[in-house]
Amino acid sequence: MNTNWLEKIDTIKSLEELENLRIDIFGKKGYLTLEFAKMKEVPNEEKKEFAKHLNEAKISLTEALENKKTILMVDALDKQLKSEKIDVTKFVANPQIGAAHPVQFTMDRIITYFQNLNFSVEDGPLVEDDFYNFEALNLPAYHPARDMQDTFYTKDGKVLRTHTSPVQIRTMLAQKPPIRMIAPGSVFRKDFDLTHTPMFHQVEGLVVAGEGEISFANLKYVMVEFLKHMFGDVEVRFRPSFFPFTEPSSEVDISCVFCKGKGCRVCSGTGWLEVLGCGIVDINVFEAVGYKNVSGYAFGLGVERFAMLIHKIGDLRSLFESDIRLLGQFK
Ligand code: PHE
Repeated sequence: MNTNWLEKIDTIKSLEELENLRIDIFGKKGYLTLEFAKMKEVPNEEKKEFAKHLNEAKISLTEALENKKTILMVDALDKQLKSEKIDVTKFVANPQIGAAHPVQFTMDRIITYFQNLNFSVEDGPLVEDDFYNFEALNLPAYHPARDMQDTFYTKDGKVLRTHTSPVQIRTMLAQKPPIRMIAPGSVFRKDFDLTHTPMFHQVEGLVVAGEGEISFANLKYVMVEFLKHMFGDVEVRFRPSFFPFTEPSSEVDISCVFCKGKGCRVCSGTGWLEVLGCGIVDINVFEAVGYKNVSGYAFGLGVERFAMLIHKIGDLRSLFESDIRLLGQFK
C-alpha cells in the first residue's frame, strides 16, 4: 500500500497534480486519515504494531511529498528563467537607438532656453478649480470669452485645465514678486481634427516686477529672441489681439518656415504662421491675487505647433500615434 503511494508521488509531473495527490492521502477522506480511523477496530494486542506502521507511512509520505514539491518548483523556475533569458552579449546588426519624442524634444528646448534666462519652472494640477482656470484670470462666470475654450468638466465641478495660465495664479499666490517663471504641461480642450487634439501641451510664461518696470518692449524683445532661437532666421510680427488676462494683448506670427514668407498652402498664402499669444498682465489678474504696484507680461504657446514647424510635420495627429517609423526620423 505504502510503496504504491510512493510510486504515485514519483510519477507526478506538476504542482497541481501533486496537491491533488496530497489530498488523496492526507485529506478528510484521504487514505491515511481513513487508515488512522481504523485504529479503534484493531484488536488491542495489534494496536501498537498497527500505529507504528501507520506513523512510519505518514513520515515517509510527508517527506516524499515535500521532496517532490521542491523538485517541481525548481523545475518551474528553471523553465521560466530559460524562456525569459535575454542574451545581452548577442550581436545585433542594426541596433534600434531610441530618441526623444518630438514634443518632448521641443519642450526641453523651450524649457532650457528660459532656464538660461533665469526663469523658474513651475507646475500645477491638470484637474483645476474654476477659480484658477477662469475666475482669477479675469474670466468670471458667464463671461463670453469662456466660449473661446471648450472645456471638459468633472462631475464635481472641476475642470481639466484648458491652458497653463492657471499656473500663473498659483505661482503668484505662492510667491512674492519679482517673478520670472514658465509653466510647461498638458492642457485639454474638446477639439479633434487635423490641427486639434483633445490633449496637447503648452508652455506658459510670466514675468512680474515693480510698477512701471515691465513694458511691452521687454515682452517684445524676449519673444523675438526666443522665436529666432527656436526657428532660426525668421521674421517676427506682433498682431493686436484679445485675451481676458492680458491688456494690451498680441498674437505673434513668424514668417512661414515652409515657403520663407512667399505664401504656400501651410500659411494659406499669407506668408505668416501664428505661434503664440502674449500681452501685458491685466490689472484685474493682479487684483485677484492681491498684488499691488506691480507690472508684468505673460505669454503662452502650443508645443505641438512648435514641434510641427521645427520638424516640418504635416499632420498633428501623427504626433500622438506612436508610430516608431515616424518617431525614428527625429533622432
Ligand atoms: N492662455 C492662452 C491660450 O491658451 C495663451 C496666453 C497665455 C495668452 C498668456 C496670453 C498670455 O490661448
